[in-house]
Amino acid sequence: MKITKAVIPAAGLGTRFLPATKAVPKEMLPIVDTPTLQYIIEEAAQSGIEDILIISGRGKRAIEDHFDKSYELETELARAGKTDWIQSLESISSLANIHYVRQKQALGLGHAILCAKSFVGNEPFAVLLGDDIVRAQKPCLRQMIDVYEKYEASILGVQEVSREDISKYGIIDAMPVETGVNRVRGMVEKPKPEEAPSNIAVLGRYIITPEIFTLLENTRPGAGGEIQLTDALCALAQKEPVYAYTFEGKRYDVGSKIGFLQATVEYALSRSDIGAQFAAYLKTVIGDKA
Ligand code: UTP
Repeated sequence: MKITKAVIPAAGLGTRFLPATKAVPKEMLPIVDTPTLQYIIEEAAQSGIEDILIISGRGKRAIEDHFDKSYELETELARAGKTDWIQSLESISSLANIHYVRQKQALGLGHAILCAKSFVGNEPFAVLLGDDIVRAQKPCLRQMIDVYEKYEASILGVQEVSREDISKYGIIDAMPVETGVNRVRGMVEKPKPEEAPSNIAVLGRYIITPEIFTLLENTRPGAGGEIQLTDALCALAQKEPVYAYTFEGKRYDVGSKIGFLQATVEYALSRSDIGAQFAAYLKTVIGDKA
């Protein structure tokens, strides 16, 4: 079955980014001049997704405004003769059909996905976390959909992480199938490195079969009192084949301060308008520190 729907959970509290996230959703913090969420929606649209459900929450209204048409701004820009900007703003509101649902309480990623049940219906769907961006030649989700089309099973986007980073992620117990693809035997959320089944971490991209909803409904709160998607995926892997695909590209956790800064620097350096000037500036900063 073709993957045409994606779910983007963006209802988390963003406590790692307080006080910035008191009134501004972390998914709207810009990397250079573009909100994180826009990069993610562009990736979904370039991967062939037609309908996107954003799981939103209290204090997240800026997300809806950003992906809506802005008549007042466009009228002002037209009056000022800034037609390039009008096109650029119009392209944001026509990226995909964007739908919203509110997660009334941030009870965890698993609970956020459960809020997508009636939108998804009985088809496999994609999940892109609202604070993870991936820079890749071929969009990360497109790579995963290609793998899904071969296996017709749930696919988790993974990469190897360093030993000290293992306790930040869901880690899989992996059985190699072919280059870049493992069968998932089990999963552990944020294990201690010495207890982890591997160093292969799930990094913010998933294709999941709709069986996950029944499992989520029966998942008790796990680590941190939250309903963990990892626990339901682990149960899914006991019922039907689940695969992990090592995607190509660099992934940034822009919900963490370091990840946000890394993304900002690297995206800025690759920009044709400011990259060279920013690189020259960074050299002076490094020179000062040396
Ligand atoms: P995170 O754990 O990174 O988000 O969830 P968080 O809880 O906002 O982060 P901190 O630790 O407080 O800084 C990964 C993704 O899942 C969403 C978040 O918005 C983020 O995009 N999420 C998380 C929800 O939509 N609902 C939740 O209950 C939890």
